Amino acid sequence: MAIETTQSPLQISTVEVGGQKIRVGIKKPEPGIRNAGPLLIFNGIGANLEMLEPFVNQLHGIEVITFDVPGVGGSPAKKLPYRFSNLAALVNKMLERLGYGAVDVLGVSWGGGAAQQFAYQYPKRCRKLVLAATCAGMFMMPGKPTLIRKMGSPRRYKDATYMAELGPLLYGGDFADDPSLMREHMSRGAKISPLGYYYQMFAAFGWTSVLWLHRIRQPTLILAGRRDPIIPLINARLLAWRIPDSTLHVINDGHLFMVSRPAESATLVLRFLSGETPLALPIGIAIIKDEHRAFTAVLNGLVYLVEEIQAGRLPPNFDLLRALLRYVEDFPDKLHHPKEDLYLVKFLKKRGAATTAEKIMGEHQEGRDRTRALVEALDRYEAGGSAELASFSEQLHGYAKFQGEHMRKEEEIALPMAEKLFTAADWQEIDVAFAANEDPIVGIETQDSFHKLFRRIIELAPPPFGVGSTGTDG
Ligand SMILES: [Fe+2]
Ligand SMILES: [Fe+2]
Repeated sequence: MAIETTQSPLQISTVEVGGQKIRVGIKKPEPGIRNAGPLLIFNGIGANLEMLEPFVNQLHGIEVITFDVPGVGGSPAKKLPYRFSNLAALVNKMLERLGYGAVDVLGVSWGGGAAQQFAYQYPKRCRKLVLAATCAGMFMMPGKPTLIRKMGSPRRYKDATYMAELGPLLYGGDFADDPSLMREHMSRGAKISPLGYYYQMFAAFGWTSVLWLHRIRQPTLILAGRRDPIIPLINARLLAWRIPDSTLHVINDGHLFMVSRPAESATLVLRFLSGETPLALPIGIAIIKDEHRAFTAVLNGLVYLVEEIQAGRLPPNFDLLRALLRYVEDFPDKLHHPKEDLYLVKFLKKRGAATTAEKIMGEHQEGRDRTRALVEALDRYEAGGSAELASFSEQLHGYAKFQGEHMRKEEEIALPMAEKLFTAADWQEIDVAFAANEDPIVGIETQDSFHKLFRRIIELAPPPFGVGSTGTDG
């Protein structure tokens, strides 16, 4: 089900270019406009414009133009197959029709190929280029062949259960760690025409930019996921090596980092497009917000599961409940709060906001106590059976409320305070620590253990959350 456009910051319209109808979404810049954009986005294969909405919502202060490629979302399929060069020509005319001059261009995955073609074919139309999770075409270093074959079918956009199973394998990174992200992502998907999908495959088939990448003149930002199973990191290194004025930034995530880490991705893009400094656009704040979003998704998943059990729609599955609770236990203590304590709290204290800093630390401690109580309530439920379910559910709801309030306070009070008080040197230190490829605080090993834990949750959880059985226990 596609999100209602009335709730979206995108104004949706349809333009006709040379007999082809194209559905366009435009986000007008809010006040406090940045000196950048408009930004034109080429989306991934089979993806309608709503699918990148979490990312577009974070592109504060610039105008964004996004559209459904023919055969996807609300744009009817073309009558004949087309190539990237035809698509670039079509988009060039579309911009003309909409009254735009030069734009910045961003392409994701399949759309990254189209974006390279557009930048090369229309150098005056394209000022700056952002290439995300993409490659130089047929000379790319492929990911696992079984995954590439699965990419060849539009089924992944039509079948939610298939996607819940495939998504974490295909996209890796946070999508492997957190199945609820996949559910949220799929909820933004629209119907796609199989013909449109195959034409998109055809547009990319045999295409390569390797022969002319060195002639791309635009300043280029290359974003890549360290754990991308579809387009391994080596492809981004190849792009960075061939494009003269380019910078590579590696994100500690999989293929869909624009969706699983929208604030971090958007901050990197805004910095590049506007030339603004880390002080104006701190990455630490973006990463904390993205982690809050991921943690909230898991908590909601756990609450949903327990409500289903209480309503008698699902049998209790203690392996799954324990796996989810392990995540809820570990995520704040091992992944998230160490970052906040080491950086947010430390600099808040240093810059004269000791009361707020201590409140945060106190709540982190209270969170640990509450988690212990929650685990004990689950032990009692498992030992004592359904008589203990109500008490476990009550504990869980209290816990979710507490953590929700805590995150809200951080976002509404502590982070704005940090933005006001921290110096350029503070942000510099946070930036270096947070943007490092290998997370210096929690380390790759901890990240990988989250990854494993969530593979287990996906195997245990019933659809649409996971791929486990809906039958009796275990
Ligand atoms: Fe916190
Ligand atoms: Fe937090």
